[in-house]
Amino acid sequence: MSVQNDAQKEQEKLINPAVLQRTGFATALGAVFATIGSAVGLGNIWKFPYLAGANGGAAFIIVYLISTLMVGLPVMVAEIMMGREARANAIETMRKLSPSKSQPWWLIGVSGALAAFLIMAFYTEVSGWVFAYVFKSISGSLLSTDPEVTSQAYASLVTSPFQSLLWQWIVLALMSLIIIRGVSKGIEATTKRLLPLLLVLLVIIDVRSLTLPGASEGLRFLFNPDFSKLTGAAILTAVGLAFFKLSVGMGTMTTYGSYWKDNQNIPSTTARVMLSDLAVSMLAGLAIFPAVFAFGFEPSAGPSLLFITIPSVFASMPLGNIFMVLFFLLTSFAATGAMLSLFEVPVAFLAESTKMGRVKATVVTAVLLALIGSTAALSSSTMADFTIFGKTMFDLYDFVSSNLLLPIGGLFISIFAGWFWGADNIRKALSNHGMLKNDLVVTGLIVIIKFVTPILLIVVLLNGLGIV
Ligand code: PHE
Repeated sequence: MSVQNDAQKEQEKLINPAVLQRTGFATALGAVFATIGSAVGLGNIWKFPYLAGANGGAAFIIVYLISTLMVGLPVMVAEIMMGREARANAIETMRKLSPSKSQPWWLIGVSGALAAFLIMAFYTEVSGWVFAYVFKSISGSLLSTDPEVTSQAYASLVTSPFQSLLWQWIVLALMSLIIIRGVSKGIEATTKRLLPLLLVLLVIIDVRSLTLPGASEGLRFLFNPDFSKLTGAAILTAVGLAFFKLSVGMGTMTTYGSYWKDNQNIPSTTARVMLSDLAVSMLAGLAIFPAVFAFGFEPSAGPSLLFITIPSVFASMPLGNIFMVLFFLLTSFAATGAMLSLFEVPVAFLAESTKMGRVKATVVTAVLLALIGSTAALSSSTMADFTIFGKTMFDLYDFVSSNLLLPIGGLFISIFAGWFWGADNIRKALSNHGMLKNDLVVTGLIVIIKFVTPILLIVVLLNGLGIV
C-alpha cells in the first residue's frame, strides 16, 4: 500500500464517528467485571468438567494450570496492553503497533476475527441449549433420575432443526440487543449485574453438592491425578482450553483492553481475572463431580455431561428441580458475558473501519453468525452426515478454534509483542508510562512473553498434532 493511500486512510478514520467518539468501560471496576465476564463462560461449566473427566482428572487440571500461567496469562497481558496502547479494535491494533507498515501483522487480527466467528457458531448453539434448559427445568420436563429419559429430552432438542435454529437465533437476538447499547451501557452494565448473581448461585449449588453422602468420591476424582491419560493430544487440549478459558489468542482481550482505563494496573488485574476464572472452574467442578459420584453416575460422559447426566443428578436430590433451574440459569449468565466479548470483536472492527456505525455493524455480525452458526446448529440433525476429517461442523469449529487458531494466534501475539513491538514498549505500557513501580514483575513478564510462551507453544503444537 502506498504512503499516500495510508495517509488518506488515516484521514478517513479520523472523520469516522465510531473512531472519533470512541469510548470504553466507564469505570475500572466495570472493566474488570466485563473482562472476567468474558473469561467465565461455558468453558468453566461445560468444557472444563468433561475435558477433565476424559483426560485423567487432576492430571489434566495440573497441565491446564501450568498452561494458564505460562501461556494463557502472558498472552492476556500482551493483548490487553497492546489494545490499551493502540486504543483500537483487534485488527487495527496490530496495524497501528506494527514497526513497519509492510509487515502483515494485522493478519493476526484477521485470524482472530475468524476464530471469533467459528467459536460463536458453536457457542451460540450450546448457549441456546442452556437457555432452552432453563425453560425445560422450570417446566419440570427434565426431572427424571433415569439418564435414558434425560438423554431423550436432549436428543429431541438437538435433533430438531427447528428448535436448534430457534434457540440459537433467540440467543443471537438477545446478544445483539445488549451489544447495540454500547460498550459501557451494554456490556459493562450487563456483566456487572450477572457476575455476582452467578457466583451466589454457584456457591449455593456447591454447598448442596458437597454435603451429599458419598460426595468425597467426586473430590478424589478432581484431586487425584492419573497421569497415564496424558498424551500429547491431551496436553494440546489443555493448552487450547487455557486459551479458550481466558478468551485469548484471537483479539477479544485486545478489543477489551482498548476499553480499559489508562491507570489500571495490567499485570495485577489480569492475574485477578485469571484467578477468578480458575475459581469459577473449580467451583463448577465441585458443584458437578461430588453430586455425579454421590448418585453413582459416570463422570467421563463427554460433552453430554451437562445436558444428560446433570439433570438426572439434580432429579436424584431433594428439591432438585429448584437446584436445576438455578444451575442452568447461572450457566446462561456465564455464557452471556463470554458471548458479548466474542460479538464485540467483529462489531468493533466493522464499526471503526467502515462507516456503518455500531447498530448496522451489530446487525451484519448477527446475520453472518446466524448463517455460519446454522451449520453448527444443524450438526446433530440435517447436517449430521456432513463431515470434514470425520468431524461434524460443530466439532470441527470447536477443534479448529481451540486447538489450532487460538494457540497459533497466541504464538504470533507473543512473538509480535516480545520481539517486534519490543521490551521498551512493554515496559512503558505495563508501568502505565512510569506511574507504577513494578520493574521486577514486568521484567519477568517480558522474559516469559519473549521466550517461555512461544517455545512452549511451538513444542505443544508440534507434539499435539503428531508432527514430533
Ligand atoms: N472464555 C469463554 C469461556 O470460557 C469463551 C471465549 C473464548 C470467550 C474466546 C471469548 C473468546 O466460555
